Amino acid sequence: MVHECSPRMTEFLRELPKCEHHVHLEGTLEPSLLFQLAERNNITLPSNFPASVAACNERYNNFADLQDFLDHYYVGMSVLIKEDDFYDLAMEYFKRAHADGCVHSEVFFDPQGHVERGIPIHTVVSGFERACKDANEKLGTTNKLIMCLLRHLPAADGLQTIASAAPYYQAGVIHGLGLDSAEKPFPPELFTDCYKTLKDQFPHVNLTAHAGEEGDHTYVTNSLNKLNVTRIDHGVNSQHSDELMAHLAENQVMLSLCPMSNVKLQVVKDVSELPIRKFLDAGVPFSINSDDPAYFGGYILDNYIHVHTRFGFTPKEWTKVVLNGINGSWCDDHRKAELRQKLQNVETKFSDLMTDN
Ligand code: HPA
Ligand code: ZN
Repeated sequence: MVHECSPRMTEFLRELPKCEHHVHLEGTLEPSLLFQLAERNNITLPSNFPASVAACNERYNNFADLQDFLDHYYVGMSVLIKEDDFYDLAMEYFKRAHADGCVHSEVFFDPQGHVERGIPIHTVVSGFERACKDANEKLGTTNKLIMCLLRHLPAADGLQTIASAAPYYQAGVIHGLGLDSAEKPFPPELFTDCYKTLKDQFPHVNLTAHAGEEGDHTYVTNSLNKLNVTRIDHGVNSQHSDELMAHLAENQVMLSLCPMSNVKLQVVKDVSELPIRKFLDAGVPFSINSDDPAYFGGYILDNYIHVHTRFGFTPKEWTKVVLNGINGSWCDDHRKAELRQKLQNVETKFSDLMTDN
C-alpha cells in the first residue's frame, strides 16, 4: 500500500529539525561535481566508468550490490585532490542538507581512500573542517566529523590511520570512529584493537560501525560487544534476533537507517519491506538517513518522504522519530535542548496535523 504525502505533510517533514547520522561525504559527490573536479585536477577516469552525468545516473540506478556501488564510489573519490576539493564537496552537501531542513549532521569520511592515493590526511581533514565551520557560521547547522576505517584493509592499516589522526581527535576536530566498506567478509571483531586503541587514548570519542546491512544480526551484536560502539549504522538485520531487539530498545541504541540506500543496493526491493514499523513499535530508536545521496538518488528529505509513502506514519510518530534522532546525536546537551525547542515550534506550527493518534 502506498500512502499519500500531501504538500502540507511534505512541508511538515521538511521543517522538522532533522539530524543526519549516516552520510558519507565522499558519497555526496554529485556526478556534475565529479566531472568538474576531474577536469580541474586533470584526472582521467577509467574507461569503464560512466562518461557523462546522464550515464552516471543511469549506472547508479542499477547497482547489483554493495560491492558494485563501492567500485564506483572509490573511482569517484579519485577526483578529490586539493583541500578546496574536499571543502567544496562538503559545503555542497551542507547546503543541500540545510535546504532539506537538516539542522545537525554527523558525517563520515574515509581517509584511507585518500591517503592510499598520496593525498595527506591533513589536506582531507582541513578541507572538511573548514566546511563544517562555514556551514555553522553561514547556515546555522552543527556538524561533526566521523572518521571511518575501511574494513577491506588490514587492521594494521587502521591502527596507522588512527595514529595519524590523533592530533585531530586531540583537538576535537574529529569526533567519532566508524567502520565501513564491504561488510560480509570482514566481521567487526577484526577491528577490536583499533577501537580499543582509540578509545583508550581519547575516552570522549564516540564509536559506531556499519553492521547488519549485508551481514547478519551477529555483526550487530559483535559490534556492540567487541567494539563497544554506542550506535549502529544500518542494523536492519537486527530484526532477526528478538534478544538483540530487546537489547537495542532497553539500552536505546540508535540505528542509523538508510532506506533508499537499502533499495539501491538490493538489500530489499522496496522501502516497505524494511522493518521500520517493527523498530518503532518495539521502541528501538532509529534515524532516517541518506548514506550516499549522490549515488542513491535522494537526500535526507527524500528518504523521509519515501518512508512516509510506505508506512504512513502519523505526525506524532514522526515527531517521535525526530526526537529519537536528536537524543541519539553526539552534540552537547545545550544543542540538543535547542533542537528539542525547534521541534516543539514545528509541532505548534503544524498543530492542524497533530491529531490524537
Ligand atoms: N556501506 C558500507 N560502506 C560504505 C557505504 C555503505 O552503505 N557507503 C560508503 N561506504
Ligand atoms: Zn554507510
